[in-house]
Amino acid sequence: MVAPIRVAVTGAAGQIGYASIFRIASGEVFGPNQPVILHLVEVPPVLKALDGVHMELDDCAFPTLAGVVKADSDHLEDGFRDCNWVLCVGSIPRKAGMERGDLIRVNGPIFTSTGRAIAAAAAPDVRVVVVGNPCNTNCLIAMKNAPGVPSNRFYAMTMLDQNRAASQLAQKAGVPVGAVSNVGIWGNHSATQYPDFYHAKINGRPATEVITDHAWLQGDFISTVQKRGAAVIAARGASSAASAANALLDTVKGIIRPTPAGSCFSAAVCSDGSYGIEAGLITGFPLVSDGQQVSIVQGQTHTAFAQSKIDITINELREERECVKDLLG
Ligand code: LMR
Repeated sequence: MVAPIRVAVTGAAGQIGYASIFRIASGEVFGPNQPVILHLVEVPPVLKALDGVHMELDDCAFPTLAGVVKADSDHLEDGFRDCNWVLCVGSIPRKAGMERGDLIRVNGPIFTSTGRAIAAAAAPDVRVVVVGNPCNTNCLIAMKNAPGVPSNRFYAMTMLDQNRAASQLAQKAGVPVGAVSNVGIWGNHSATQYPDFYHAKINGRPATEVITDHAWLQGDFISTVQKRGAAVIAARGASSAASAANALLDTVKGIIRPTPAGSCFSAAVCSDGSYGIEAGLITGFPLVSDGQQVSIVQGQTHTAFAQSKIDITINELREERECVKDLLG
């Protein structure tokens, strides 16, 4: 019999949490033979709603759901005890007219206690994915406050940007989205990110050969992906939820499943100095996984245009770090 894994989700009754946990419980992420114990963490005012979510999980009768633990955010160690995954969804979302970085002093402090509780209570093999914005810098705060947890266990979510970029490329090329691969997202999950169309492929061919409108690639394509979160907020009156949840699950799958040959997946990880990007910054890179270990794709070359975009987003990450230097443990 396979031992269950424990997966904590903060903000479990919020929109992204709610759109994530049933899919995790169903076996979609970790497989039909892997029992999962969900640790649902919420702020105290939402605990009653969380009871309702728990009832719904029971009512799904998922064979892969081996248990539910509920905890409030004042007792994070209880929430994260022995967890193999901590998915940090809970945070204040941005509203219309805000950039994600505007949340930095609102949400940043949440991640000091998150990091400490992960270090104190989670399983030795814990892996952490941060969704709450600004996710790169929140992830940095959590990592810096989790002494003893290796830095390569921390991820911030840029998969939503990858999925958005793939969708835009597919629509422009008139192909199904499954034909698009190898879209790396560089830098910050923000309006400065660089979605790398130069290395993207469409039906195995360079996207720049299939899409000959390079002005679109360098212009509207990049800005559409950079500003997609704001566009969703403007249209929906609330920040993306189902697509963010989907990207969270795609991130976990990207980490635990071998990456198809010739492709990559996107997440922000602790830079090891690759591509001259300052070591220690939580930076979006193209990644590959062998199913056990994740590594940064090496050997890509960048045009002067691409490098200038990467420089801008890395500078923004440095500025965000400066804003929270008092929270870095
Ligand atoms: C997104 O990209 O949709 C999310 O990060 C939410 C936001 O504030 O943009």
